[in-house]
Amino acid sequence: MSQVLVASNRGPVSFSLSDDGALTMRRGGGGLVSGLAAVTGAPRDPGPPHSSRAGDRPDVLWVCASLNEADRVAARRSPDGRIDRAGYETGGAAVRMLDIPEATFQRAYNAVANSTLWFVHHLLYDTPRSPHFDARARRDWQSYEAYNAAFADALARDAAQGAKAAIQDYHLSLAPQMLRERRPDLRIVHFSHTPWAPPEYYGLLPDDIGNQILLGILGADHAGFLTERWASAFLDCCELLPGAKVDRAARTVTCSGHVTHVGVHGLGIDGTALRQRAAEQDVVERARALREQVGDRQLIVRIDRTELSKNIVRGLAAYRELLVNHPEWRGRVVHLAFAYPSRYDLPEYREYTAAVERTAEQITDEFGTADWDPLILQVNDDYPRSLAAYGLADVLLVNPIRDGMNLVAKEGPVLSERGCALVLSREAGAAAELSEDALMINPYDVSQTAETLHKALLMPPTQRAERCTRLTAAATALPPQDWFADQLAALD
Ligand code: G6P
Repeated sequence: MSQVLVASNRGPVSFSLSDDGALTMRRGGGGLVSGLAAVTGAPRDPGPPHSSRAGDRPDVLWVCASLNEADRVAARRSPDGRIDRAGYETGGAAVRMLDIPEATFQRAYNAVANSTLWFVHHLLYDTPRSPHFDARARRDWQSYEAYNAAFADALARDAAQGAKAAIQDYHLSLAPQMLRERRPDLRIVHFSHTPWAPPEYYGLLPDDIGNQILLGILGADHAGFLTERWASAFLDCCELLPGAKVDRAARTVTCSGHVTHVGVHGLGIDGTALRQRAAEQDVVERARALREQVGDRQLIVRIDRTELSKNIVRGLAAYRELLVNHPEWRGRVVHLAFAYPSRYDLPEYREYTAAVERTAEQITDEFGTADWDPLILQVNDDYPRSLAAYGLADVLLVNPIRDGMNLVAKEGPVLSERGCALVLSREAGAAAELSEDALMINPYDVSQTAETLHKALLMPPTQRAERCTRLTAAATALPPQDWFADQLAALD
């Protein structure tokens, strides 16, 4: 029985299966792992598992979904699907991977969570054509309910009396209410890592589904958001929910006698851990290779998942406009664009990746010369290379259409060696903390983005360094350890 439970779609570890049936476990990334380490006392960096110290810390269980066949095999092979205390890989938590039937998982994860809820909260629909809620959408919704129920069942089964459960993100918006029905003794927090849609856009969802999602989250005692803006949009939607009473001053929503507090918990970077990682040999080697490749030219860097909301195509278009309007930069600047693969099961993401590649090719064809490559686009995931690029960046471009927080905007300044200028979308959650020292843009305005890149390249080095120092301070003010502890404390 666990005193603290975490639930998220993607867990802290994943598996691969070799031909002879052997399973290999890999560590997943993410702030949640380091956040948990603070609670469990586990080391945050690789080292021997500390099972001998198991008695010193709260018993934490992390419930997650099996994301592929290897995960499902691992879940079936472990007693009760429980992978015990995996040490630093999981921040010291035991892990229970749920063996959810593949069809249910695909519909819940791809069709509902990523193609519907993600699109709603990030305002991604091309509304003349989509969304289109028909009988198939209802079937997908039933899978989303079943997926959430599987999490609620597992949490209900493993929680100690009065335990705290921290349920993460839009995949699991029904689980808080389902868990409260099963275990009214528990204290439940739900945390949204995404933005929240304004009510008129949230209203694209069928009314019953939109209401069920709100009621699901309101099953929690505390609903957490990354910024004031997203918390406020959630309250706006709750105001339209039949039977709900919103108290804006107290930031509470009362529904069927149950009170949910709505809170803001910003998430930043663990600066010490990130700098330590960036000092390792693999990062140093990649930095050397990149420097050789680009010479002493100025560098504009962007690093993203190849994700519709990240606005990569408009970012490339802005770089093109910079080279057209300010030909003096030709030969003197290189754009490093790292766009690593994401959600490739969705056709929109495959098409978007192709559009990114096409746009990049056009820029290279139009401006490239025998001794100058204006753009280096890399579409494979190479974490140490990303850390190396942060170190070398003169300008960091972060221009999402909409983003819950955006940690690239925070990691870049922390690792930047000479101090980088940050060009930042006003629609990123990070804008709430970084707007004073970043150069702010409207992500839809390509020409403004181009002019802002120009201004960033011209910024005097001392001004750049001073701004970067302040950006670093803001970026590291809310490390994941504090963010997670804060969520749990909100339940006391
Ligand atoms: C966002 C979401 C996370 C998700 C991540 C990667 O940050 O808030 O919940 O895990 O994207 O997406 P993926 O679909 O690959 O898990």
